[in-house]
Parts: sequence; structure tokens; C-alpha cells
Amino acid sequence: MMFQLIMVLLLFLFTPKKVVCQGTNTNDGELNFNGGKNLYTTGSANLNNNGLLTLTNSTPRTTGQVFYNRPLQFKDSINGTAYSFSTTFVFAIEFHNGSYGGFGLAFVISPTRGFPISFPRNYLGIFNISNMGYPSNHIVAIELDTTFDQPLGDIDANHVGIDINSLVSDKADSAHYFKDDGTPTNLSLSSGDLMQLWVEYDSKHKQLNVTLHPLLVPKPKIPLLSLQKDLSQYLLEYMYIGFTSATGELTASHYIFDWKFKMNGTVSDINHSRLPKILLEDQLESHSLKRILIISLSVSGAVLVIFLILGLWLFLKKKKLMEVLEDWEVQFGPHRFAYKDLHTATKGFKGTELLGRGGFGKVYKGTLPVSNIEIAVKRVSHDSRQGMREFIAEIATIGRLRHPNLVRLQGYCRHKGELYLVYDCMPKGSLDKLLYHQQPMEILDWSQRFKIIKDVSYGLCYLHEQWVQVIIHRDIKPANILLDHNMNAKLGDFGLAKLYDHGIDPQTSHVAGTLGYISPELSRTGKASTSSAVFALGVVMLEITCGRKPILPRASQSKMVLNDWVLECWENGDIMQVLDHKIGHEYIEKQVALVLKLGLLCSHPVAAMRPSMSSVIQNLDNVVQLPHNLLDIMKDQEIKGGGEAPDSPASRSITPLTFTESFLSRGRACFLIIFAG
Ligand SMILES: *[C@@H]1O[C@H](CO)[C@@H](O)[C@H](O)[C@H]1NC(C)=O
Ligand SMILES: *[C@@H]1O[C@H](CO)[C@@H](O)[C@H](O)[C@H]1NC(C)=O
Ligand SMILES: *[C@@H]1O[C@H](CO)[C@@H](O)[C@H](O)[C@H]1NC(C)=O
Ligand SMILES: *[C@@H]1O[C@H](CO)[C@@H](O)[C@H](O)[C@H]1NC(C)=O
Ligand SMILES: *[C@@H]1O[C@H](CO)[C@@H](O)[C@H](O)[C@H]1NC(C)=O
Ligand SMILES: *[C@@H]1O[C@H](CO)[C@@H](O)[C@H](O)[C@H]1NC(C)=O
Ligand SMILES: *[C@@H]1O[C@H](CO)[C@@H](O)[C@H](O)[C@H]1NC(C)=O
Repeated sequence: MMFQLIMVLLLFLFTPKKVVCQGTNTNDGELNFNGGKNLYTTGSANLNNNGLLTLTNSTPRTTGQVFYNRPLQFKDSINGTAYSFSTTFVFAIEFHNGSYGGFGLAFVISPTRGFPISFPRNYLGIFNISNMGYPSNHIVAIELDTTFDQPLGDIDANHVGIDINSLVSDKADSAHYFKDDGTPTNLSLSSGDLMQLWVEYDSKHKQLNVTLHPLLVPKPKIPLLSLQKDLSQYLLEYMYIGFTSATGELTASHYIFDWKFKMNGTVSDINHSRLPKILLEDQLESHSLKRILIISLSVSGAVLVIFLILGLWLFLKKKKLMEVLEDWEVQFGPHRFAYKDLHTATKGFKGTELLGRGGFGKVYKGTLPVSNIEIAVKRVSHDSRQGMREFIAEIATIGRLRHPNLVRLQGYCRHKGELYLVYDCMPKGSLDKLLYHQQPMEILDWSQRFKIIKDVSYGLCYLHEQWVQVIIHRDIKPANILLDHNMNAKLGDFGLAKLYDHGIDPQTSHVAGTLGYISPELSRTGKASTSSAVFALGVVMLEITCGRKPILPRASQSKMVLNDWVLECWENGDIMQVLDHKIGHEYIEKQVALVLKLGLLCSHPVAAMRPSMSSVIQNLDNVVQLPHNLLDIMKDQEIKGGGEAPDSPASRSITPLTFTESFLSRGRACFLIIFAG
């Protein structure tokens, strides 16, 4: 770093200082952004006087973007073939929190000049949770990623990747370059050293090359990444080019020193003598303590004393809002929120911001400062610090789960014996409210209900079969199914019971879930499994279709237990009779019958007869038909599985779960994660 600094300064000093006209468009069609002309900045991005672009600074959870003002024609308007192009830029990334920081920067080719509705952190300010991976994005990006995010397929916390429409890279590799003799040399993106990146697309060979190297090493002949892909199908005719960057709880400065772009050809190398001369000044700025000292020494002692007292007062005032960060928590960095921010977001946990009360604590809505992202904060009091570390490790794990049908846990915060869990905000609330306390305007029609059933099934399938660990949701029921403003359903939070598990005498542990959704074998053995979750899902399918609770204690014998009633109606040849009357006449009879029959199969009393989540999805998607002798299977097994008394409808109260265990299954570590709401 020091070496480069001196080099840059030396070069600067020995260059004759004449005013150079740094137009952006040189005569050979090369765009040169030296000096920052014609650039448009948003968010935390800032262009300083001498041409240095700072995308993010030490502000947490921000995004910063800079784009070339005008769109460029990337494709032939007649045959739609993407032109060749090449670009190169000099950048540096500096972490603020020791060896942790985030989240990286990306060069982007995008249909829009900036991304107004994007998320910070690992979304790098490009995507948000609802548009990841969509072909309609038309985004090609080269990411310089400094955090390790497993669900996004990251290989490590120091890689370069080619991203098309999604942050899951089409191709990625750890940061390194090849010397002339072909030996690889590792680089650290976050070293603060100046590095140069080249992105070159060859229209004829449909090849995209990305080459990284330290500033003072000439461009290597062998690229870091080479992707064989025709970009014509992803790019629109006119596209904007620029950079985007984001921070999380941990921050980093992302700088762009110089940038060139050329359509239909190869850009020339960057002239080192023209790089902005900022490093020294900036370093001084960042060490504001030094400044304070200098200022302090130059003023009289009295002023100094006042200054210190004032400083101490401010410090103590600030400390009141600060939480204690323990050593081990540093590694969970991205998932930690500052108490101050949550306090501001929820207006000091004001009563008017209260969304509801769960089994473990109150839930508040809030809007995060700076990013304006809406969140839901669950406030849980805990007095034992015992088990906290394991619990938070688990929170970090759950926080990495990303699926459109799971409510995302964004992170947590500890403050004065209370734990705060931060979730994505779900504006439409929970399904039980929509099913049972609805206004006439908000009655769910069949297509909405069917979509909710599918959404929840996708979410559960992800937990059971698609993530690295098997995660068992212990409390699937309408109250834990939440809806976003587009009526997409998401499975609600899990993992909380783990906190309460520690320090509880195993002798007194009792199995619980919510009555009506507990499978017979779970109530007998207390061992939750994927098939007991499928049971609960089956009951929920029937409940959504019939618009009634699984157990109605005061109903007639035949109607009391939902499953029995549906099965009976089916045997009597009129399964449609159970359909919620509120749905009206607009429904597809085949779909309704499918859901009812599948619901019955899923909530089969014998665990072995229940389908896996992937086959549930196949049935719902109509890829695979239900067995034609299903009714026989249901009746037959009822006899074999006899003696399974239906759950007693005595108590409908929600009992918190106090039970957890882990075991090995299918060669994968399987954590049993319990939720209680
Ligand atoms: C598309 O048109 C351009 C010129 O208009 C031409 O150079 C290019 O070869 C054409 N590509 C194909 C695949 O026809
Ligand atoms: C990271 O460093 C920045 C700048 O020094 C600071 O504002 C922020 O609070 C730090 N974050 C953590 C989690 O320590
Ligand atoms: C995500 O971004 C897209 C496009 O910018 C926007 O239409 C959509 O509303 C955003 N979704 C969220 C949840 O912010
Ligand atoms: C370079 O990085 C790779 C991947 O991070 C690692 O496997 C390798 O050991 C590193 N090589 C050296 C010489 O540090
Ligand atoms: C990309 O790299 C390969 C070598 O891996 C090279 O043959 C090809 O010419 C390069 N293409 C461009 C556009 O630089
Ligand atoms: C790139 O080349 C095509 C023809 O192959 C031409 O139509 C287009 O104007 C060129 N674009 C630029 C920016 O020079
Ligand atoms: C680099 O820029 C300096 C000053 O702007 C100029 O004198 C020099 O010729 C340039 N070098 C190259 C290789 O273009």
C-alpha cells in the first residue's frame, strides 16, 4: 500500500502540470472517465474534487452507485448481435473492521441507470430479494466479492465472479493472477492495494474474459475468468454501464480511481500518472483521531479541557445506546445490527409500531435508517447468557437461508439482556388472520389459496431437501405463514426455541407444537422429523381449502376432526362439499380435488405413507399424478394404523416448544430446529 502510495505521488510530482482537456469521448471512440466527467452518482457514492470515486465509506448498510450518464448501444438493432466491448478500471477496497468487512463492488451493465429498489449487503445494491435470478433483469455484472455467502454459491470471501441476472455467479474464481510463466499468484481484494480489472467481450467468439492484476504489474496474458457465452440474449439494445457497491454491519471503502470503456474494440491501458492523488489526504481523514490531536495541541489548554469533557459526555451518551460486542460475535458480523439503528427504526419500540405478540416476545415494525428497508423486529428477553453463543451461531446459519418462500432472518442484536431478531417485513400479515378474521374485501379466492399452498410447499421442500442441512420446522400452521404485499406466502421464523432449550431440565421437556398439526408419531415419541412436518403441511392444505380449523371441539362427531371429515366426504362421493363456501364458484374442481387428496395423503396417520416434499411439489405442479387407488390407501392404512387416537381437542393453547435434538441423516448433518410462535 505504502509503496503504491509513494509511486502514485512520485509519478504525480514528476508529471508536468498542464491542464489537460479530459473529455470523456476521445477520438477513437474510447470513453475515458478520468476526472469523473459525465458520471451520475447515487446513494453513498461520492466523486471528490480530484476525480476519486468513493462508492461506500464507513456508513453501514448503504449502497453507492455510479453510472455513465448516457446509455450505450450494445447490440446491433437489426440482427440483435451484441458488439464486442472492453473496459478496464483501477480500484481499491479497504476494510474498516480488521479482517472483516463488506461487501464488495461490481461493474454492471444494466437497462437502468442505477438500481433504486435494491438491497445492500450481499445484494451489492444490484438486486433485491424478489428479483434475483429473473431473466427480465437483463443484468451482466462482474463482482469483486469480499464476503462468503454460501446460499449464493460463493466459493470464498475473496473472489471475482461473472454474474448474469443473479448473484449466483456463472463463473467465479478466487482473486489471483498468472505470471508470464503461468504460475498463479494470490491477491487479496480487500488489501487496500490498487488493482486493475479488465472485462473484455469478443462478439465473434462469444467469449467474456476477466483479468485481474495489481496496478504495478502489467496485464497478464492469461485471464482469471473466461466464459463462453453469447451475451446477445441477455443484453438489451441500449444499456447503461457503471459500478455498484454495498456495505452491511461491517463496512469497507470501495474506491474507483480511473475507468475506461470502449465499444467494438480493446481499451488502452490506464495512464498511471493520471490517477487521482488522494491517498494521503484520505488516510489522514480516516484517522480523524490524529486530526483531533493536532487541533487539540494547537489550541489552548482550557479549550482542550472543555473539548475533552464534551467528548466524554457525548461518548457516555452514545454508550447508552451501544451494545457490548463480544469477541466471538465478530465472526457473525454481517448478521449483527446496531441497537441504535433498531431503536431508530422502531421509533424507540413505540407502542404504535407494535405488530403483534408472539410466544416469545413482541414484534415491532420498523424502517431502517439510510436504506429505508422495512423490517419486523422481534424482541425477546433472555436472562441466561448461557447458550447465547450457540444460539447466535445458529441464527447466523439460519440467516444464510435464502428462499423466496421463507421469511428471511436478516440478523440480530443483543442489548441489555434482550435479544432482537430482525426479519423481512411481511405487510399482509399471517395467513390465519386472512382465513378467519377477514373483511369481505379480503377473502382469499381459490387461485390465491392454491398459490399459497404451492409457495409454502416450495419453502418446506427447500428446508428438507435443498439446503446443505436438513432443517425441520416444528410448527407449521397458518399463524406461521406470512404474506408479502404481492400475496407471496413465506414460512415464518424458526430457531427461537433453541434459545429456551438451554438450561431446561430434559426431564421436564414436553413435546408440543400446535394441537391439530401434531402427527400421531410425534405425540407418541416426541421425535420431530421431516415426515411430521409433512403431516402438518397436509393439515394446513386441508385447512386452507376448507377454511376451517383442524379441530372444532364443538362440532358434531363427524365434523370435529378435519381430516376425518374430508375423508368421509370423499368416501361418500362428494369431496367438493368441504370446500370453503366463501370461495364462491370460481375455482378449478380438479385443482381443489388434488389439494384435498394430497392434503389427506400428507396427513396420513402412518408416517411411512406420507410423500416426500419433492413429490408433493411434483403433484402440485401436475408433473406426477396421485396414485389412482389413493382412497384405498387411505382407508386401508387407517385400519393398519389403527389405535391412533386423534389428538384430544381439550386445549387449543399454544405451548412453547422445549425440545430439540440433532442427529445424522442421509449423510448430512441434520439439525432439528424448533420454532414456537
Ligand atoms: C450483424 O450485423 C453487423 C453489422 O450490422 C455485422 O457486423 C454482424 O456480422 C452481423 N452478425 C450476424 C450474426 O449476422
Ligand atoms: C466497522 O467499522 C466502521 C468504521 O470504523 C464502524 O462505523 C462500524 O461500527 C464497525 N462495525 C462493527 C460491527 O464493528
Ligand atoms: C425489486 O426490484 C424490482 C425492480 O427494480 C422492483 O420492481 C421490485 O418492486 C423490487 N422488490 C422489492 C421487494 O423491493
Ligand atoms: C491461493 O489461494 C487458494 C484459494 O484461496 C489457496 O488454495 C492456495 O493455497 C493459495 N496459495 C498460496 C500460495 O497462498
Ligand atoms: C480470452 O482469453 C483467451 C485465453 O484464455 C484468449 O484466447 C482470447 O483471445 C481472449 N478473448 C478476449 C476477448 O480477450
Ligand atoms: C460498433 O460497430 C457497429 C458495426 O459493427 C456499429 O454499427 C456501431 O455504431 C459501433 N458502435 C460504436 C460505439 O462504435
Ligand atoms: C500519461 O499522461 C501524461 C500526463 O497526462 C502524459 O504526459 C503521458 O504521455 C501519458 N502517457 C501515456 C503512455 O499516454
